[in-house]
Formats: sequence, C-alpha cells, structure tokens
Amino acid sequence: MNNTCHHSEDHEEDAPSGALPRRDFVRYLLAGSALSVAAIDKLNAGIYQSITSLNQKYVEDISPDGAYWDEVRKMFLFEDKLIMMNNGTVGPMPKPVFNTLMKYFKYQVRNPYDVYNFLPGGKEAVRDKLARFINASPDEVSLTSNTTEGLNLVANGLDLKEGDEVLVSNLEHPGAINPWKLKAKRCGVKITEVPFSLPAKGVDDIVKGFAAAITPKTKIISVGHTVFITGQITPLKELSKMAHEKGVLVMGDSAHGLGMLSLDMKAMGMDFFASSPYKWLGAPTGIGLLYVKKEAQEKLWPTIVSSGWDTTPNARKYDPQGQRADAMVYALGEALDFMNHIGKERVERRIKALAAYLKQGLSKIPGVKINTPSDPYLSGGLTAFSAEGVDCQKIVDYVQEKYNLVVRTIGSRDAGTLAIRVSTPIYISTKEIDMLLEGVAQLVRHKV
Ligand SMILES: Cc1ncc(COP(=O)(O)O)c(C=O)c1O
Repeated sequence: MNNTCHHSEDHEEDAPSGALPRRDFVRYLLAGSALSVAAIDKLNAGIYQSITSLNQKYVEDISPDGAYWDEVRKMFLFEDKLIMMNNGTVGPMPKPVFNTLMKYFKYQVRNPYDVYNFLPGGKEAVRDKLARFINASPDEVSLTSNTTEGLNLVANGLDLKEGDEVLVSNLEHPGAINPWKLKAKRCGVKITEVPFSLPAKGVDDIVKGFAAAITPKTKIISVGHTVFITGQITPLKELSKMAHEKGVLVMGDSAHGLGMLSLDMKAMGMDFFASSPYKWLGAPTGIGLLYVKKEAQEKLWPTIVSSGWDTTPNARKYDPQGQRADAMVYALGEALDFMNHIGKERVERRIKALAAYLKQGLSKIPGVKINTPSDPYLSGGLTAFSAEGVDCQKIVDYVQEKYNLVVRTIGSRDAGTLAIRVSTPIYISTKEIDMLLEGVAQLVRHKV
C-alpha cells in the first residue's frame, strides 16, 4: 500500500488514546468511527500484546476453563450477556477484525483513489497468510465470497458428461447439493447418495460406504467435511486416499472448518475444499476460501472471468472478478493474525474440550440422543442432539428466553435427523454449557 493512505489521517478528528471502556468503544464506532487509523492500530497491538502475555503465562491449557479463555472472551464485542452458541450462518468477529474492517472502509470513505489503486495489492499477502494457515501453496488458494460459491465453481467448472457419476452423502447442505442438481439437469450427470450412519460408526465404515458405491463412471466424491446436520467431521484424508487409488476426485464442503479445526491441505489430500471463515475464524461475512490442489487445476475451468483467465496458471483464476470490498480481504488477514496469536492447535483443543464437556453432560440426561460421533477425530465444535418426548424448538426457545443463549434446530423429522445443534467456540465457557444442560434437563423433566 502507498503512503497516501497513512498521510491522509493528518486532519482527522483526534481519537481517544489507549484502551476505551467497551461501551464507549462501541459508541465511537457506531457514531461514524471517530477513531483514527493510528488509534485502531494501537487498539489491535494492545490486544495482541495481551494474548502474547497470556501465552507466556499459560503455556498449557489443561482444563477447558480458566483465565486464558476468560481474557480471550473479552476480545469479542457481544451485546451484554448474549451467549452465542450457533456459529452456523455467521459467527462473531473479534475486536481486531472489526477494527481492521472499519479501518479499510475508512480509507474508502476518505480516499477512493487509494482504494482502487493500492488496496488490491495487499490481497496477495492475505492469500499467503491463508495458504500458510492451511498448509497449502498460495497458488492453490482462491479468495472466494463464501463456501456456496466455491462449491458451485467446482461443480460448474469440471468437464463432466452425460452418465458421469457424482457421489454425495445423504446429509449435504443445500449449497453443496444444488450445484450438482443443476449440473445433472444441464449435462445429465448422475448423483448417487451414500448414507451416513447416525452417528457415524467409524472411519472404516464411512470409507467403505463410498468405496462400495464407486463405479467406472464415478468422477468425484463431493461430501460435507463439517456435516451441518450432525456435526460429524468426515475423514477426508482416508476418503481421498481410497478415491485417488480409483482415479476419483474428492471435494470437501468444510463451511465450518476454518477456525474450528487445525487444517492441513497437504495431509488431507483432497482436490477441492471450500470454507467460510466468517463462521468460526472471525472474518467478516462475504469472504471465503476455495482450495484447488495444483494437479486438479488443469481439470477445473474458471466460471466468472475477466482478463487473465487463460493466462493465469494457478488458483487465482478462480477469484471473483470485478470490484470487491478489499476491506474484507484485509479483515480476513486480521482474523488469521488473531487465530495465529492464540494458535490454531490450541483453538481446536479448546473447541473439542468444550464439545466433549457438552456431550458428557448431555449423555447424563435421560432420553437424550446425540447424533454427533463421540470420537474427537470424527467430530469438532458442532454437537447435535434431541431429547425423547421434547420438542426441539421448545428447547431452543426456552434457553434463549431464560439464559439469552442462542442455539438452533437442524435436520428434519421425516429423515430422522431433527435435532438441536450447538456450537462450542473458543469464547464459550463450561458455565454457559451448564446453563444449556440445566435448560434441557428442566424440559426433559417436564416433558414439553
Ligand atoms: C456444511 C455447509 N455447507 C455449506 C454452507 C453454506 O455456507 P455459506 O452460506 O457460507 O456459503 C453451510 C452453511 O452453514 C454449511 O453448514
């Protein structure tokens, strides 16, 4: 970026220095952002300094609770007492990400010339950072708008012909199955469903189910990695190994994966992987990841093009074309910085420890059925359960009213998957999980 951006702050209204009380901070931002860019940078540096000190003080997080996570919790901007346990659709941005989003929109407000001339240049640094975060090459990373876009780009961009087969599970998200339904209608490809057990029985069972459905016409397995109805984590590594031995491509729909799991594209080995970093990673809505393995790029046409589509020998050719909000790209970079300060392995450990605590509590409530595998390899931060004789929506409404705690219903009665889905992200405490458990136990006792 050029210096003009920084110099343009000279005449800005003086911002308060140092940390502001939370309420004042929100007021400042909502009042039209009187904070200067320098003040925003200072706020972010202060937050990262706190995380670094916490890391030095608490080398190991042995218990799921404690001062470390209490402090991290304060780095989010929730309305008073809101307990946010649904990271589907969108999760929260931590303070530094929101600050950065404001900062770059502020550049646009003050100097659109800089925005279109210089801000796009910072995109590559964010791509590099994201690539490092998932152990991929920057040449394999496309910065899409969301998971749905990434999945559509793959379904649309592969040369498939009438009679070719696509394997999916019975629990695909509408954003994952509909691109294939469109392809089926346009080109006559055949979609075959391989059902998942509820809950999954194990890695072998899943891999064998797909292996048995492969025919000489199967071209791709397109499957939920973070299964939105059950919270299952599909073993993409084992699935890819099996599929590749048979010459079949693999795509993972991991809408929830970034920021929930410590991801390693090379180790997992699949060809395509789409994710939405605004669910668990803390990025703003409207920025996504499509990973396309180097070897798979020659098989995938770009769909939305401008100049350069035929001369770009890497995944940049799948990026959305035309103008976009560069502020969101920079905010994704900040979300990665935030996660890197905490450490992605530490984040996964915390999320899984909270999920295990929740599952343990649920298993003690009579009549509760958990649809999520208990094996931490096959599950993450999403847990889905139902309680015999109790209406799922009643539980959702009850805990929202009583504790200001947000969860959601998911699945369908007809398919036998209807459940309450709970997210256990890093900012949730076991005390809050206890509230949810108390609410469920209460309704189970009264059978409503
Ligand atoms: C498994 C799965 N796939 C795809 C999507 C669609 O994600 P997005 O709306 O971010 O494109 C979701 C949304 O929650 C999801 O859970």
